[in-house]
Amino acid sequence: MRILLVDDEENIREALREYLTAIDHHQVVTAANGEQALDQFAADKFDCAFLDLKMPGMSGVELLTKLKEIDQSLPVVVMTGYPSLDAAINTMRQGASDFLIKPFNLNQVKITLERVVREQRLLKDNLHLSERLKHQAAMEKLNRELSRRIREQNIIYRISEALEKLQTSEEIYQGMADLVCRHLDAEKAAVLLLDRSSNQLLVIAVHGYESLAVGQTVGELGQGICGKVASEGECMLGPAGGDAYLSELLPVEKRSLALPIKIREEIFGVMLVADKRGVAGFQGEDIFIARFLLDKAALSIENIALYESMVANMRSTLGALVSAMEAKDPYTRQHSRRVTNFSVLTAQIMGLGLEQIESLRFAAYLHDIGKIGIKDYVLLKDSELSPEEFEHIKRHPVIGESIIKDMDLTEAERSIIRHHHERWDGRGYPDGIAGQDIPLLARIVAVADAFDAMTSDRPYR
Ligand SMILES: [Fe+2]
Repeated sequence: MRILLVDDEENIREALREYLTAIDHHQVVTAANGEQALDQFAADKFDCAFLDLKMPGMSGVELLTKLKEIDQSLPVVVMTGYPSLDAAINTMRQGASDFLIKPFNLNQVKITLERVVREQRLLKDNLHLSERLKHQAAMEKLNRELSRRIREQNIIYRISEALEKLQTSEEIYQGMADLVCRHLDAEKAAVLLLDRSSNQLLVIAVHGYESLAVGQTVGELGQGICGKVASEGECMLGPAGGDAYLSELLPVEKRSLALPIKIREEIFGVMLVADKRGVAGFQGEDIFIARFLLDKAALSIENIALYESMVANMRSTLGALVSAMEAKDPYTRQHSRRVTNFSVLTAQIMGLGLEQIESLRFAAYLHDIGKIGIKDYVLLKDSELSPEEFEHIKRHPVIGESIIKDMDLTEAERSIIRHHHERWDGRGYPDGIAGQDIPLLARIVAVADAFDAMTSDRPYR
């Protein structure tokens, strides 16, 4: 233990120093007055101090106060030769741990010191314990926060994964209603679209609201909780028992939560979630998860819209190419349109599915797109073609396929362009495949193409 011993009488200082050093190998640093003591205290660390109360210059009480200001937990033993009750009370009030009356016997010093050491240890243990408790409480709080974050991340991951599997806008709207109910543990949800022309909110998907139909109007911009969210763009918690304005169409038993659906900061709808199971009601965490779901879904919807417009754009460009090519040739004018019509009619009579008919409607029009790569004098020649010229024109299905190969056409659509000159007997081109090996839609277009060739007049017929 390091002890600071302050006394103006040298013999007392030395005697006490020797004794303290002897009893328990304590390290004792001495000072003759308050100033010296403060210098020592600033330069070194001490576990305890013994102060004489009556010293020239700074008094013991003054020094005691200053030391306590620096280190509140330092045990200080005050020594005096002139005891008075007032002085004793005063020093104790200033934080002295004990009071020694001079001349003191050394045994008394020993007992005081032991008591101070015990108190010091208790104090330290206490401090240590309360630090540990504080630390433990902080750890528990961190743990709770961490498990909340993990739970949230887990939900976010599952939402992302679920949304990625959805292909069309309709599937995504329905997915939004289903997923928000599942992850917020709510019973009902409705996805409403804001129709900007009428300022009305239309149902686009529901979960739990069985009587509502898609396309039904359920509110108006600015009216009720959903209308307010649609006009203000901020999420809102509805009153218990539901929103009076919407109660008939969108009944809520407990509480509702309405959030804006935005694409690039533009509000295009509202998501209403209602009746969370349990007693807690919607929390900040629920809003966070619902917002994440809406942002992610909005991004998917935007991407689908972008993709659909790109596809529409690409299709109309391809169609324009065919029209431009046909415009050069009086014999083939409207040929692609007629082949398309014959093919679609044939497919309808054969009872093919909608998807196949749509493929035909699109790709039959493009079947001769490869003729863009055929030299004009061959294409426009009105006398009979030479064998070389005929070989040249026979390349158009392959050229056509290479034009569309990087575009997002289905395999059936691609096959129409490549195989519309194959023949059932295998004597067609470019691959010479026969019978059922020729893809069905390509066969239909081949027949329609042949029929149009027979009923119109072409040089190389
Ligand atoms: Fe052709």
